[in-house]
Amino acid sequence: MTVMEQASESGLKAPVSLNWGEGGMSGEPVRESAKTLGELKGIFLDEAAGAQMDAGTEVYRVRWWKPVEQGEEGGLFWGVTILQPGRVGEEYFMTHGHVHANRTRAEYYATVSGTGLLVRMDEQRKSWVEEMGPGTLHYIRGNHAHRVVNVGNEPLIFWACWGSDAGYDYTTIREFGFGIRVLERGGRPAIVPNES
Ligand code: F6R
Ligand code: ZN
Repeated sequence: MTVMEQASESGLKAPVSLNWGEGGMSGEPVRESAKTLGELKGIFLDEAAGAQMDAGTEVYRVRWWKPVEQGEEGGLFWGVTILQPGRVGEEYFMTHGHVHANRTRAEYYATVSGTGLLVRMDEQRKSWVEEMGPGTLHYIRGNHAHRVVNVGNEPLIFWACWGSDAGYDYTTIREFGFGIRVLERGGRPAIVPNES
């Protein structure tokens, strides 16, 4: 019997196993939710271009493990986001973006594949980007809004670890957006002020 088989027999098997490269999670039940273009209506700048596209197109998918209840103080969640390549008009596919409802709760993002930009914004709406690519690790302060943009031609896959009591405030982003947008200009990503 191998050491792993022995561990498994004696109940020491890890509850969740990851497929790092592909964003797979198996073992204990994990949650999974997909976001479509239709669900992101109002987030992209070019609404006319969005209206021409299939509302059922998947923009990204999130899988996460909740070893404790949402809202439990001091716990941690672990998850992955798989963000597809694509554009709505000039704007690259991106996550909705949010700030944590509890502004003291930080988060790590770690990229395994693809090419992206992590858009961050502080409480004064000062906004900037960090490059994401295989191996990049990002520490996001609890009071920084965060959104990921896929500027490449393949899925962008990144893992995340965040507090079970961080929560999500999507309303601030839905109403006011970030201070910048990432658009394709001349075949390359351009960071432009958000004037919408
Ligand atoms: C959790 C977190 C990620 C995102 C995911 C989807 O705090 O930041 O797991 O939830 O990348 O992005 P949103 O939530 O902005 O749709
Ligand atoms: Zn977050």
